[in-house]
Amino acid sequence: MEKLEAALAKAREMRKAALGAPETVREHVVQKDGRGAASWESLPEITVSAGTALRNRIATLSGGKDAAPFDMLRSRTIRQMKDKGWSRLAITSPGAACGKTTIAINLALSLSRQKDLKVMLIDLDLRRPALHKALGQTPAKSFHDVLDGNASFDDLAVRFGSNLILGMNATACRHPAELLQSAGTREKLDEIERRWQPDIMIFDMSPMLASDDNVGFLGNVDCALLVAAAESTTLPNIDICEKELAQLTNVLGVVLNKCRYADDSVGYSYGTYG
Ligand SMILES: Nc1ncnc2c1ncn2[C@@H]1O[C@H](COP(=O)(O)OP(=O)(O)OP(=O)(O)O)[C@@H](O)[C@H]1O
Ligand SMILES: [Mg+2]
Repeated sequence: MEKLEAALAKAREMRKAALGAPETVREHVVQKDGRGAASWESLPEITVSAGTALRNRIATLSGGKDAAPFDMLRSRTIRQMKDKGWSRLAITSPGAACGKTTIAINLALSLSRQKDLKVMLIDLDLRRPALHKALGQTPAKSFHDVLDGNASFDDLAVRFGSNLILGMNATACRHPAELLQSAGTREKLDEIERRWQPDIMIFDMSPMLASDDNVGFLGNVDCALLVAAAESTTLPNIDICEKELAQLTNVLGVVLNKCRYADDSVGYSYGTYG
């Protein structure tokens, strides 16, 4: 794993020298004044069973030792985002099944244990939505219906605890790329952010190499984490994706998931940009 991290760092340095700073990203930040936010308490509350959490590696549900690596990821993420005044974070990966959804949930739950933070977790993997499955939920409607104008976010959103809102999908969307890059989606996200005033919005995305769904969307976020599966994602694929991501948004870091030799039992490690 150290070899992989060293190789990634080297590739990144070479790229930085060749390309300079990444292109700039989100055009405007939604103004939030802390007043007039919709009432989070008014949303229906969900629970996640201990069995579901165990099965789906949601280590942060109860805190403790297994949550420690995610708490570290939380601290580094929130520090970098606060420093820059950023609120929107996308989580993606080169290929499928690297652990994006697992990490998105654990990060959101870890953040929400800080009671002064208002956190939103949205499923934007519109081809293979899985947030609801990982949390053991059966939503009646989908977040893509909200983006399409066929449902209201107020009717779809649910709450976990007092300060985490979830936007899940019940089904896949038939036209994910078009929807994700539409002006309507941009406006809807701004509207949701203005109305609910979260401190951080996390978007669980689809893999980068499987489709172009994310390309047109990433201009709507401030930054991204790239999740790689240490033993199945190849170094060239990590490098290609990190490069592509860096042209679309700010890359906060690469999370190496499924590391057999990681120090912790959840098997993940985090490398950041220097
Ligand atoms: N650190 C880990 N060690 C072992 N298995 C893991 C780890 N993290 C996640 N998994 C398992 O790997 C599988 C894929 O995880 P997950 O659904 O989070 O990936 P994903 O990148 O969101 O996949 P998709 O591309 O389908 O959206 C799940 O069964 C999950 O429980
Ligand atoms: Mg997923």
